[in-house]
Amino acid sequence: MKKRLISGIQPTGNIHLGNYLGMIQNALSLQREYESFLFIVDLHALTIKRQPKELKESIISVAKHFLAAGMDPKKITFFVQSTISEHTELCWILTTLTQFGEAERMTQFKDKSKQNKENINVGLFSYPILQAADILLYDIDVVPVGEDQKQHLELARTLARRFNERYKTKTFTVPKALIKKKEEGGKIMGLDDPTKKMSKSAKSKYNYIALNDSIDLAREKIMKATTDSGDQIKASAKKPGITNLLTIYSLLSNKKLKEAEKEFANFGYGEFKKAVADRVCDFLKDYQEKYSKIDNNYVAEVLTLGAKKAKTLANKKMIEVRKTVGVL
Ligand code: AMP
Ligand code: TRP
Repeated sequence: MKKRLISGIQPTGNIHLGNYLGMIQNALSLQREYESFLFIVDLHALTIKRQPKELKESIISVAKHFLAAGMDPKKITFFVQSTISEHTELCWILTTLTQFGEAERMTQFKDKSKQNKENINVGLFSYPILQAADILLYDIDVVPVGEDQKQHLELARTLARRFNERYKTKTFTVPKALIKKKEEGGKIMGLDDPTKKMSKSAKSKYNYIALNDSIDLAREKIMKATTDSGDQIKASAKKPGITNLLTIYSLLSNKKLKEAEKEFANFGYGEFKKAVADRVCDFLKDYQEKYSKIDNNYVAEVLTLGAKKAKTLANKKMIEVRKTVGVL
């Protein structure tokens, strides 16, 4: 039997190349190897104030991104978190197993509380416990995540073990984090500042390429990207700008970084950037055409199918959990 994988995605409208190469492409390439679950974490998104209309549109938009990127909804169980009520029910049970100090230690909670002083809500505090419930409901073996989620995964592992030990059962599988390396797209850097990761919350739009950027704007962004001193097209820690562009090029071309380096051995920076821009623009054209063809009815159909599959498993697991802890 194949091992199981799950990945949760925040509903945001402005998906960028870092999300695509770091998460979407990764999750899809793993669909052959693992029985995969992908879901949109709309309940987690509520920990930050969102306009209801904008949130709903973002959920649909993220679903379209996955479909445009080539997700096969027959192979992957693709659903929206809020449509499976078992996630919040299991979350409550897990909160009773989590020590206050354990939740308080989470660095993401501390960071988000600092950034967002006017809205430090209890949801933000228990965010990692809901994340643990998301994972434990489905007997998941591996969870592909960025470095920033490592601590949350540790908590999920701790809670799985603690539950099993307390109730002397094997109810939960203990999941493993699958952290991607940088050259595999684990961390695409900002175009205007290649020492920090590409981010949708960056101050300048020249930091990221959004998947819905116009072709002209995307080309301009690559041509303006910060490069390094010297003139060699080589990946190295001393050349973060060139390394980032090489990484983007190689991932979009399905080539190894070394192969890309060889290809550009005799290129100057200007020619190299033009080649990267051509590759990115070809990708975007093709991607945007696919995106525009996906209609809302199809998205609804796909999400209903995914929810049905997820519900069957979640329901079964919760029957076992309720029985184990002694509630009715
Ligand atoms: P976010 O929208 O920042 O919550 O990120 C959504 C997903 O994309 C997460 O799995 C992140 O790890 C991934 N991601 C975000 N930014 C980048 C980046 N610059 N490089 C690689 N992956 C990223
Ligand atoms: N916290 C994750 C993020 O910000 C999203 C997430 C929620 C998730 N539940 C999950 C990721 C379960 C993997 C598995 O990216």
